Amino acid sequence: MIIAIVAVDNKMGIARNNKIPWYIPKDLKYFRKKTMGHPIIMGYNTYLAIKKPLPGRKNWVYTTKKIPGFSVFNSIEDILDKYIYKDIFVIGGAKTYEQWMPYIDKIILTSINKDFDCDKFFPMFNKEFELSYKSHQYSDNEQQYHYEHWTRRQSASATN
Ligand SMILES: NC(=O)c1ccc[n+]([C@@H]2O[C@H](COP(=O)([O-])OP(=O)(O)OC[C@H]3O[C@@H](n4cnc5c(N)ncnc54)[C@H](OP(=O)(O)O)[C@@H]3O)[C@@H](O)[C@H]2O)c1
Repeated sequence: MIIAIVAVDNKMGIARNNKIPWYIPKDLKYFRKKTMGHPIIMGYNTYLAIKKPLPGRKNWVYTTKKIPGFSVFNSIEDILDKYIYKDIFVIGGAKTYEQWMPYIDKIILTSINKDFDCDKFFPMFNKEFELSYKSHQYSDNEQQYHYEHWTRRQSASATN
């Protein structure tokens, strides 16, 4: 299964000035728990933001450049052929979510109840996906947030 995992503000914003403009330690733990042991896919700008590979996960960077210490790729099909039987997490950013969206089976979303005046956004997806889970509200580091899981409607799958 190909899973996008993302944290968004109340306008679906994911970043401002090439940074995530919030810090929610409990959500970072959630991200770590969900992705641990699975391959993760990121775009070049997200790689620049995280700088070093996230431990315990195969880190793939979607780029035309070479990056010492990271695996790189520039064709989605190459990755799909390699990991067809495993869960793969697409971890951003905006451009990478957009490119992968036709292949995404599930979206794990942290929804933060505030407008952070972002300049990068998660792509629109509601029509192709249905809400399969919604958590109660959480609070950490002065932010209110909840989790949503969106699952691709069967008839809308690009890989069926
Ligand atoms: N809120 C969240 O959950 C979250 C999650 C992740 C990231 N972010 C934030 O999002 C921001 C980055 O988003 P972004 O949209 O600027 O960048 P991005 O998706 O991380 O990276 C875009 C880059 O990836 C490469 N790329 C994309 N499509 C490609 C393709 N088809 N083939 C080969 N390479 C391709 C290109 O790099 P080159 O062509 O230059 O090689 C492109 O410039 C950062 O600020 C990050 O912190 C937020």
